[in-house]
Order: sequence, then C-alpha cells, then structure tokens
Amino acid sequence: VTTALALYDAALRRAGRGVAAPLHLVNGGRPLRQLDATRFVQLRRADRSVLNRCAGPTLDLGCGPGRLAAALVADGVAALGVDVSAVAVRATRRRGAPALRRNLFARLPGEGRWRRALLVDGNIGIGGDPVRLLARCAELVAPDGEVLVECEPPAQSSWRGPVALVDGDRTSEVFPWAFVSAADLAACAARAGLRELESWTEAGRWFARLG
Ligand SMILES: C[S@@+](CC[C@H](N)C(=O)[O-])C[C@H]1O[C@@H](n2cnc3c(N)ncnc32)[C@H](O)[C@@H]1O
Repeated sequence: VTTALALYDAALRRAGRGVAAPLHLVNGGRPLRQLDATRFVQLRRADRSVLNRCAGPTLDLGCGPGRLAAALVADGVAALGVDVSAVAVRATRRRGAPALRRNLFARLPGEGRWRRALLVDGNIGIGGDPVRLLARCAELVAPDGEVLVECEPPAQSSWRGPVALVDGDRTSEVFPWAFVSAADLAACAARAGLRELESWTEAGRWFARLG
C-alpha cells in the first residue's frame, strides 16, 4: 500500500513532463472518477469564470500545480497556493506564485483576512466532510470575503465515503472524500455559516460563490 500523496506526486511529475497521468478514484474497488493530472496543469475555459470573480488577496486551497494561483498573480492579484504535496508546491512556485506546503486545516497566514478562498477541481471533497471544510474556509476569509467552490452537476447526488487512488497496479491507502451536488451546496454552506450568493455553470462545470 502506497500513500495517496506518493501516487499523486508521481502522477503530477508525469503530467509536468507532458505524459498522460491517469489516476482512478475508487470506493472499495468501485470506480468513482478518473482524474488526469495533466488537466490540473493548463488553464481551462471555465477557470476564467472563477478568476474573474477574484478581487483582492486569494487563497488557492489544494492548489495542485498552481494554474489558478499563477494566473491570478499574472493578472496582478495577490494569491497564495496551499497544498500538502511537495511536487504541487514546487510546480506552483516555478510558475511564479507563492505557495505553502501545508494542510489547509493547520494554521495559515492571514487567517480571517483573505478576500477569496478557492475550492476548485473537486477540492470540496478534501477531508471528506464538506461542512467542516466550508466552515474552515469561512474562518480563513474576511467577514465580507467569499469562497468560490466547484461542485458536481445538480443531477448528480452528493456522496461521502472512503476512497483510494489507483495508478495502474498500485493502490493507495484509504482516505475520506466527498462529492457535493450543486443542488445540495446551499444547504451545506448554511450549516457552515455561509450563504450561496450566486451559482453558475460553464463548459459543463458547476460553480458557486459563497459569502
Ligand atoms: C483534486 S486535486 C486538485 C488540484 C488543483 N486544484 C489544481 O487545479 O491543480 C486536490 C489537491 O488538494 C490537495 N490536498 C488534499 N488534501 C489537502 C489538505 N488537507 N490541505 C491542503 N491540500 C490538500 C492535493 O494534494 C491536491 O493537489
């Protein structure tokens, strides 16, 4: 059994070299999702809809190789990437954005003062408890700050449970994960003390702005 981080780091390294890096997210052997780490590297069309809603210092939580944080910095918006993966943090810094290798539930700089916090690419699943994660985001942003979240299409059900990453014949240890349907996000946000201010969809992806 490998750690999920080791499999993810190896996939990011391959993606960084432009090599296909498919990873499978499974629940007890049942495939849930295929992730391709190369998708985390290049800015995609709907990403702009999130970046355009960033005003002022922005935390990119679970920043991966930092495509969003780097695009913000290039636009003159202060941004900080946070990720537990050393490969992700290194890639983010190489792209010109500052990044911290840290668990987002641990102490972070400027808590309670950020204008925006981002949870993109399924990152609402981090930790397997979306209400706890959103409550953490509410703590990180200023009282009038906002949390921008990517969620699942409304026709899809929310789900929480133990998952593992699979890369070829290697399977990671099990860790908690969650998917949140756009239909359930407002209720989930309310339990975390946040309100859904806007929701939108672009290029088949679903997003919401919470404050
Ligand atoms: C689905 S990937 C998304 C990648 C990223 N958003 C991007 O666009 O490149 C989830 C990311 O969250 C990071 N992550 C997972 N748990 C975390 C935690 N507790 N604190 C910080 N980062 C975490 C992973 O290392 C990974 O980079």
